[in-house]
Amino acid sequence: GNYSGQLRPQIHFSPPKEFMNDPNGMFLDAEGTYHLYYQYNPTNLVGGNQTWGHATSKDLFHWINQPIAIHPPNNNSQVYSGSAVIDVNNTSGFFPNQTNGVVAIYTLNSPNLEVQEIAYSLDGGYTFERYEGNPVLDVHSSQFRDPKVLWHAETGKWVMVVAYATDLVIGIYTSPNLKDWTHASNFSRANALGSQYECPNLVALPLINVDGSSSTAYILQISINPGAPLGGSITTYFPGSFNGTHFTPSDSEIRFTDFAKDNYAGQFFYGLPADEKQLSIIWANNWQYAESVPTDEEGWRSAMSLAKANSLRDTGDAGYQLVQELVDLRPVYNSTLANVSTSDNLSTSVDYSSVTSGAVYLDVNITNIVTPAGSLNLTFTSTSGGSLSAGYLLSSGEFWINRGNIHEFANFSNDGFTETFNTTYCVEGSVWRLQAVVDRTLLEVFIDRGKSTATMVFYPADKLDGLTVSAEGLGQDVGVSATVWGLKSAWA
Ligand code: FRU
Repeated sequence: GNYSGQLRPQIHFSPPKEFMNDPNGMFLDAEGTYHLYYQYNPTNLVGGNQTWGHATSKDLFHWINQPIAIHPPNNNSQVYSGSAVIDVNNTSGFFPNQTNGVVAIYTLNSPNLEVQEIAYSLDGGYTFERYEGNPVLDVHSSQFRDPKVLWHAETGKWVMVVAYATDLVIGIYTSPNLKDWTHASNFSRANALGSQYECPNLVALPLINVDGSSSTAYILQISINPGAPLGGSITTYFPGSFNGTHFTPSDSEIRFTDFAKDNYAGQFFYGLPADEKQLSIIWANNWQYAESVPTDEEGWRSAMSLAKANSLRDTGDAGYQLVQELVDLRPVYNSTLANVSTSDNLSTSVDYSSVTSGAVYLDVNITNIVTPAGSLNLTFTSTSGGSLSAGYLLSSGEFWINRGNIHEFANFSNDGFTETFNTTYCVEGSVWRLQAVVDRTLLEVFIDRGKSTATMVFYPADKLDGLTVSAEGLGQDVGVSATVWGLKSAWA
């Protein structure tokens, strides 16, 4: 792959060439290597001919592209989304002499049928053999896909969540050996959003309770497409409990993982320690325009989000909230471009045209807040005058981001390419923090260490290379600091 194009993210994963969508089969192996598979059409810049592309990384920034891991058995079928597990105890019988056997569980899509299949890897996830007893799950449906499997230690069973896509139902199945699956329950909502459910994930996350103590709770994450409130696709989640066969949501609220619209089909890694924050990676695009974004000029389409570290917190009134923290960026730190701190009002401009990656990280901390007041504004600029901006009003908690003033690359336009996104996130206590990563064509925003997050793609005609941060009227004793780092390319 050629990663030098001006639209290519430099610290995010994107495919060597052609079209990528959902992350698949992600796991961490015993040697500390992260495996990312992904929906990959190696022959075209739109979806089709789906296979599992593969990349590996030690730090979640520097990825090594590997050969395609799973191909369909014939020209009439495609390998759709799914997951992977490490079968340490050889429950499947595929691995009599090893503890690092990997089983991939995926959907085989053919014109009138979607079934769940498995494939096993004797070499730690690089090459796979299809199981001769496939399919392992067939309900005679053309809309039955995206199995995500976890190990449920309390019952000693594998558990699969899988979407009956157009029924807006998630099926839960259990198995002792990954080959024989028994239906356990269904999850559905009377007020379901969207016209298809896709890519469900069920995962146990660390939970911080109101009193500060910690325990564990589950979330069932469901991607919906089309029919997201902002158009196209988005990810929703339900916090709750899981007893090995049934998922019980804690309330009837539909929550979103992101307040922009480039967040779909995210998946949690298999194989992380059970009591730790769980890592996820998300497809940073939207089916409304993913197949028409202008990066085709450079021979590729779509990137993944950075990895995020996920946990839950109990907010009291608003119930359990997903917290998605930015992972440690130190593996890609290059230089500190600005580091200012003052009180009440702040204004600083950074010219980062010398940062060859075009990727920067901004961290703003406001401290000593008594009565929230004043505003914060950020503007990333390019020489052609296009800009990307964001702002926050402390009194109302209104936060916004805007991609509408970018001078678009190659006159890209799409009716679904919503320009501004808003959320309300009120200051909690006396401090407030904003972290933002800009990486050529991707913006990721984390408010208060990931309690509210946004992922947004944009396609500038000229590269962004200036940043202005200003704060006004915060109050005399309120402290404000801004630090900007230039990041180094993980692909150079
Ligand atoms: C979600 C999805 C999945 C399917 C895959 C096909 O983006 O539609 O439901 O398995 O993409 O590439």
